[in-house]
Amino acid sequence: MQEKRKADLVVTGIGQAYTARPAASETGSPDLSLKHSTFVPELISDAAVACGDGLILYVGGEDLVEKEVDTSDALIVDAEGRLVTPGLVDCHTHLVFDGSRHDEYAMRCMGSSYLEIAESGGGIRSTVRSFREADKDLLFNSAQARMAAMAFTGTTTVEIKSGYGLSTGEELKALSVAGRLAEEESLRVVPTFLGAHEVPDEYQSDRTGYVDLVINEMIPEVAKQGVARFCDVFCEKGVFSVEESERILRAGLEHGLGAKIHSDEFEALGGTEMAVSIGAVSAEHLTALTESGIVALAGSATVPVLLPGTTLFLGKGDYAPARDLLDRGAQVALATDFNPGSSTFMSLPLITTIACSQMGMHPAEALQGVTVNAARALGLQDEVGRLEVGLAADLVIWDADDYRMIPYAAGHPLVLFVVIEGDAVSFD
Ligand code: NIG
Ligand code: FE
Repeated sequence: MQEKRKADLVVTGIGQAYTARPAASETGSPDLSLKHSTFVPELISDAAVACGDGLILYVGGEDLVEKEVDTSDALIVDAEGRLVTPGLVDCHTHLVFDGSRHDEYAMRCMGSSYLEIAESGGGIRSTVRSFREADKDLLFNSAQARMAAMAFTGTTTVEIKSGYGLSTGEELKALSVAGRLAEEESLRVVPTFLGAHEVPDEYQSDRTGYVDLVINEMIPEVAKQGVARFCDVFCEKGVFSVEESERILRAGLEHGLGAKIHSDEFEALGGTEMAVSIGAVSAEHLTALTESGIVALAGSATVPVLLPGTTLFLGKGDYAPARDLLDRGAQVALATDFNPGSSTFMSLPLITTIACSQMGMHPAEALQGVTVNAARALGLQDEVGRLEVGLAADLVIWDADDYRMIPYAAGHPLVLFVVIEGDAVSFD
């Protein structure tokens, strides 16, 4: 008889475990409205989750856990009937920066637009100026505090984009801070190179020169140092055109960096369709998405990443067409877009509230958006985002007994206990 795997942590007494399963093995619950998904949500009652060596060893009925794994040396945590979900995945953030843009926020509240502020030298370029002044320790310390706040709301994996350096040395500075966070922090970090976030002040009269710098110098160096997994670009009117974005993303792909794009945030330029055509892992924002963009995304493996916190924070009403995307079979992910200019939301549970209340997403769809589909947007669907044997032991115990409480609670702190790779996260 095969020896039982030794667990080091077992969560018992789970009233409801929320996870997702590949559609082929659908066990389904009529309450859940995700019939087009490749993954379907699954609820398990009276469950237990056993973890060992950082991985999930068992998920299922509490009565069978002892039979399946050796729990003799394990720390046993009794969830006392509560909800357990996979750790949440924030698949779009700009976490490493210095300074605040509350002045711009106040201007926007009085009617200025994000693009107007950007055109007058504010916006991303103002954070670039403070970023370049900041040393790595300062950037590390502020990012570390933000990550702790994110973990407190259930986030266990976070993508971090560079993009406030906008020179080879300064972009590498951002990615090295992200790398140190990955090493020293318990949260899992996925670094993305976003040198094409904006044209810096010194290249305002030589845009092509900047695009060439990104392609010929930054991307090869980032790839050589192995400090990013993806290459992203802000494809927008007044920022990078579709043609420039394609050149940049193709250069990234040639150097082994997966492609991501900020597209259709303010104007539909065709960036989403281009991203789908080159096999991008995700297209993000999509508030101005058109019919052809919806069709392109629905028929592809490119994950639409929607950022409703940004729409709310910018004071706009044009939420991305989540319902159209979902009803046509797209796998919709949600993220905070945490950054100093367009979204200071750090809480994924609060993002699920906005998604449900403003975009007509079902709570199950929203939770998929911040777990399994967010993992897909980072190419991590075989590692995180579900309670599944063999995946990372990242989980959250909530002070709730039903997954629908997460959006319903509208950001009230419901997180009781967070586990990352089998270790409890401490919040002191
Ligand atoms: O995703 N849209 C472009 N980039 C960020 C904003 C960054 C900033 O304003 O500092 C975003 O919203
Ligand atoms: Fe962004």
